[in-house]
Amino acid sequence: MFDDKTILITGGTGSFGKKYIQTLLERFNPRKIIVFSRDELKQFEMQQTFNQPNIRYFIGDVRDRERMIQATRGVDYIIHGAALKQVPAAEYNPVECIKTNIDGAQNVIHAALVNDVDKVIALSTDKAASPINLYGATKLASDKLFVAANNMVGDRRTRFAAVRYGNVVGSRGSVIPFFEKLIADGAEALPITDADMTRFWISLQDGVDFVLKNFTRMHGGEIFIPKIPSVRVPDLATAMAPNLKQDIVGIRPGEKLHEVMCPADDSHLTVEFSDHYVITPSIRFYDHDMDYKENALGETGTPVPRGFEYSSGSNERFLSVDEINDFNAKAML
Ligand SMILES: NC(=O)c1ccc[n+]([C@@H]2O[C@H](COP(=O)([O-])OP(=O)(O)OC[C@H]3O[C@@H](n4cnc5c(N)ncnc54)[C@H](OP(=O)(O)O)[C@@H]3O)[C@@H](O)[C@H]2O)c1
Repeated sequence: MFDDKTILITGGTGSFGKKYIQTLLERFNPRKIIVFSRDELKQFEMQQTFNQPNIRYFIGDVRDRERMIQATRGVDYIIHGAALKQVPAAEYNPVECIKTNIDGAQNVIHAALVNDVDKVIALSTDKAASPINLYGATKLASDKLFVAANNMVGDRRTRFAAVRYGNVVGSRGSVIPFFEKLIADGAEALPITDADMTRFWISLQDGVDFVLKNFTRMHGGEIFIPKIPSVRVPDLATAMAPNLKQDIVGIRPGEKLHEVMCPADDSHLTVEFSDHYVITPSIRFYDHDMDYKENALGETGTPVPRGFEYSSGSNERFLSVDEINDFNAKAML
């Protein structure tokens, strides 16, 4: 699918972007990969590892529409990963988060339409489902923009979809590096926000593979959600430091006890496939008869029961303490 294609990744120097590019290079022969991000130092450092002649490094900000249009000329596929994603930073700097996550999303859509890009997948997060913090709210707005963008395609080939998943094991600013630092610094206890707190758990490679697969599955307009396990946060702390005490410190502003990926209020739009769910669009666009129960790969799904919710708290699959250690070790390879 990606052989001889030009692929642009906004946020290409981030955790997801680097793994995605590594995987593309291992499995395909892309004509060109464009890394699009702001910070020259991150790009310089990335070039020390990824210096193949078919990789181009573009400095640019998704907030800059002209630059987005320039960067996407001749591009076949876009993965939109650039985002501000720290919950407290978004609460404190709301307009900055809106500019990057919402205005930036609209610029990616506009540029894709101007340049007749074939397919665009935007990365979303569980925090976008029934959001309670600004980061989640901006990602929900972004999801809505990408779904509705299929309404603007006219007779162009461009199609847009989103992929929504939960905590990526070990990603920058996440709980594992936070606990690791406390353990390395000799902390006497690990802070646990709530004894009942749960999170969805996915490895970066599984996230990348899911996005790759959805380029072949998408009709346009879907929000794809993988079926992944949950962890209880105290089990994670036990797995990482079995001999350390755990202090309950209380839920932080903007945090949920459990994350949701398919809200009950979207159950009438949700279709279950063997290893994933799809939230189908609430509006109809380029093809009024589109049947989202069968994807472009021919896989078929079934509508979920009314009121169905896919939540980390009521997930069918939880990792035990031992399984968390195995999972994390594999995920960090
Ligand atoms: N990590 C997770 O646990 C997780 C879970 C679910 C969903 N996601 C989603 O996955 C995506 C990628 O996450 P990640 O973990 O790879 O994030 P990351 O490691 O923080 O990387 C973010 C990337 O975006 C770039 N960026 C930020 N603002 C930009 C802007 N205005 N214009 C252009 N580039 C910009 C950054 O580079 P510069 O700073 O140099 O611009 C960096 O390359 C995000 O959309 C996030 O919401 C992440």
